Amino acid sequence: MRLMIIWGSTRQERKGGPVAYWVKSEAKQDKRFASIDFVDLRELNLPFYDEPVDAFSIAKPEDYRHPEGRAWAERVIKADAVILVTPEYNHGPPAVLKNALDYVGNPWIDKPVGLISYGGRVGGARAIEQLRSITIELGLVNVANAIHFVRFARTFESGEEPSEASNESLQKMFDQLIRIHKAFHK
Ligand SMILES: Cc1cc2nc3c(=O)[nH]c(=O)nc-3n(C[C@H](O)[C@H](O)[C@H](O)COP(=O)(O)O)c2cc1C
Repeated sequence: MRLMIIWGSTRQERKGGPVAYWVKSEAKQDKRFASIDFVDLRELNLPFYDEPVDAFSIAKPEDYRHPEGRAWAERVIKADAVILVTPEYNHGPPAVLKNALDYVGNPWIDKPVGLISYGGRVGGARAIEQLRSITIELGLVNVANAIHFVRFARTFESGEEPSEASNESLQKMFDQLIRIHKAFHK
């Protein structure tokens, strides 16, 4: 199974690396994933959506006006499951992450998605709630349990590793992604 991890922060001084790279490293150790595609949206550098129609009306990647859209859609098609790692910006996900989701239509359909957030007092939970509605609209299939890192900067800056409970939650998320994928591909 091919897992795509999308990290939603692109700021030059972004702080969420330890969370995103922890997910990547745990996924790499899980031999059930044949490949991990780690998408750093800062590197992907998508322009703002500028196609003449919505992404669900674009039948195939070659039909994108912009080559960046075509390449992004082709990359999404190759994934069997997706994990979004997001900070919370003003109680929602960053605009760059929403833009990357808006860019693709049909290729998202029936892919399982797990949501992981980091932030202050509520660990990005409000960004996750918005992402649930957005991903449902895109046809992605949500894993029930999200993972939140509360006051994450303090934890990670003090050099602490994610707790055993966090590792277990992530393993459960992997299990659920695999189970949903199998259910859709019987
Ligand atoms: C534009 C902006 C809005 C923010 N809004 C929130 C917020 O609503 N809730 C929260 O817990 N933290 C908020 N923060 C603080 C972020 O949790 C913190 O800056 C975090 O490091 C952002 O992730 P990043 O460094 O990976 O981009 C905000 C930060 C920025 C830059």
